[in-house]
Amino acid sequence: MGLVVMGTRFPRTLRTAAERCLRCGHCVAACPTQQLRHEGLAAGECLPLEARWVAAAQVVGQLIRGRRSIRRYRPEAVEKGTLLAVLDAARYAPTAMNSQSVKWLVVYDPAEVKKLSLAVIEWMRGLMQKDEAVAGRYNAATLIAAWDAGLDPVLRGAPHVLIAYARQDDPAAASSCTIAMTTAELAAQPFGLGACWAGFLHLGARNSPAVQEAMGLPAEHVMHGGLMIGYPAVTYHSIPPRKPLTVDWR
Ligand SMILES: Cc1cc2nc3c(=O)[nH]c(=O)nc-3n(C[C@H](O)[C@H](O)[C@H](O)COP(=O)(O)O)c2cc1C
Repeated sequence: MGLVVMGTRFPRTLRTAAERCLRCGHCVAACPTQQLRHEGLAAGECLPLEARWVAAAQVVGQLIRGRRSIRRYRPEAVEKGTLLAVLDAARYAPTAMNSQSVKWLVVYDPAEVKKLSLAVIEWMRGLMQKDEAVAGRYNAATLIAAWDAGLDPVLRGAPHVLIAYARQDDPAAASSCTIAMTTAELAAQPFGLGACWAGFLHLGARNSPAVQEAMGLPAEHVMHGGLMIGYPAVTYHSIPPRKPLTVDWR
């Protein structure tokens, strides 16, 4: 933001700094002698940056490339503390204007997870009657048939679901929530957890008041995405290929 400028010996802040400050903490974090104080960031709240924990490129590369969408889960619950550790990591993801406006609903009870799946399936049944073309685009008939056969094609039998939401009048919240979810999905891996984006749940929440009601977010808030999460019942042994990069250089 250019609010701190170098004086002859010490840095100083611009007169307008207080109004324009995003409270991003860069000034405090960049100060090599840790002498810079910010009234909005209590001293001691900054975590240390440990040189010995700088991740090797191979480790980060495998974390990113070895992540898979998990669609079969072991039934055991994940401890709440572990889920909080995952969400805590996502708190450090970037947010538009440092708004930090991402909120989470943890659907912890597997019975509540099932209710959400059912609400989505019911919405799809209605859609089949109302608009066959749109229902076809969402593969509704296949999903309904799987549900009727005793499977859960919506939330895949995951024990828990993490729902990222924000105030509906926040114009940049969709991006911030998406980045937070991506961060959470990556952060879940070292805990042995697997996750999968809950696209059908999000679709239902965007289109069905009944799904919204089953979710029960606070008034004037909207879901921006969800992640199924739990211990995977599948193991992967390699990393599937991707399309080649499409890159233009100017
Ligand atoms: C926005 C979004 C929504 C998704 N929704 C679902 C979903 O509802 N159900 C599902 O099984 N997978 C869902 N996925 C997972 C994709 O199918 C998956 O990322 C893709 O097939 C690549 O597989 P990988 O994630 O294991 O690399 C979704 C992914 C994204 C990014």
